[in-house]
Amino acid sequence: MTRRKVSVIGAGNVGGTTAQRLAEKNLADVVLLDINEGVAKGKALDITESAPLYGFDVRVTGTGSYDDTAGSNLVVISSGVPRKPGMSRDDLLRINAEIVQGVTREVAKRSPEAVLIVVSNPLDAMTYVAYRESGFPRERVMGMAGALDSARLRAFIAMELGVSVTSIHALVLGGHGDTMVPLMRYTTVNGIPVDQLMAADRLEGLVKRTREGGAEIVNLLKTGSAYFAPSAAVVEMVEAILTDQQKIIPTAAYCSGEFGIDGLFVGVPARLGARGVEAIVQVDLTPAERALLAQSAAAVRELCEKVDAGRK
Ligand code: NAI
Ligand code: 2OP
Repeated sequence: MTRRKVSVIGAGNVGGTTAQRLAEKNLADVVLLDINEGVAKGKALDITESAPLYGFDVRVTGTGSYDDTAGSNLVVISSGVPRKPGMSRDDLLRINAEIVQGVTREVAKRSPEAVLIVVSNPLDAMTYVAYRESGFPRERVMGMAGALDSARLRAFIAMELGVSVTSIHALVLGGHGDTMVPLMRYTTVNGIPVDQLMAADRLEGLVKRTREGGAEIVNLLKTGSAYFAPSAAVVEMVEAILTDQQKIIPTAAYCSGEFGIDGLFVGVPARLGARGVEAIVQVDLTPAERALLAQSAAAVRELCEKVDAGRK
């Protein structure tokens, strides 16, 4: 049996932590690539030196060369730049679209059968760029966001109610941004609808906190954005795919009419297995929920049109 191989592009906070988590779970050999080769090599070596202490047994390689990624089963794209003072969202969109475009071209030709999971922001538009540039079928390209946003909501509910986080199930759909759509009707505490356990205004507060979850961490860290929960969310998706779990995870998946959305990557419940997105699970939405999702999809479409207009 050949060993499974996952390449992580971008060895920054999210990429480095993702490589560490993948190795610690013994999920696959990991190739960590960065434009800054020293950082990729240094982090990979550091993770490798933790293997005897932590008890895992996979190879972790740091590199600046795409040839080392050849034949990957799965590629995580977490390369990009964060927003700096004076930079508009559109500036960030343009720069990261160029980075994701270049990275995708390099990985797709060396790993034509891989599944791609995009993490770079703005997430839904960058996933679209990876889809467009790779030419891969829709089921093999997806973005990580809903897994993170749902985990944040679960953590906040558990803290508020003082119950185990393992009892909380939550579903956050839509784009990864201000327009995300936390579906409280589908959020339960071991099957009990959460609105039976919490006053409406408290719930509303947690929904707001979830929508602003990324900014809350940025404001505390001041030097970057979240990476512990994001990398854990990536690894949940990677594990579901590599071990063919058929697990339902909110995922930025390509919609072709599902939920009334066409030709866009937007966060929807997806069944993840060996082929990638095995199916989009169409849950019933009220007219109000459907309208919020449509509004979120419209915001994603606007960004995709901008990246198409600026394509080189
Ligand atoms: P970071 O700044 O720590 O790391 C980014 C890395 O990308 C750097 O090491 C940089 O050298 C590398 N890079 C830049 N251009 C490259 C290129 N052309 N080829 C290869 N590597 C390149 O950033 P961090 O915190 O790791 O975040 C990475 C991205 O993920 C950002 O766009 C961030 O906004 C996004 N993000 C998305 C989340 C989500 O829920 N989808 C959650 C957290 C972060
Ligand atoms: C987050 O939600 C920055 O998208 C990233 O933390």
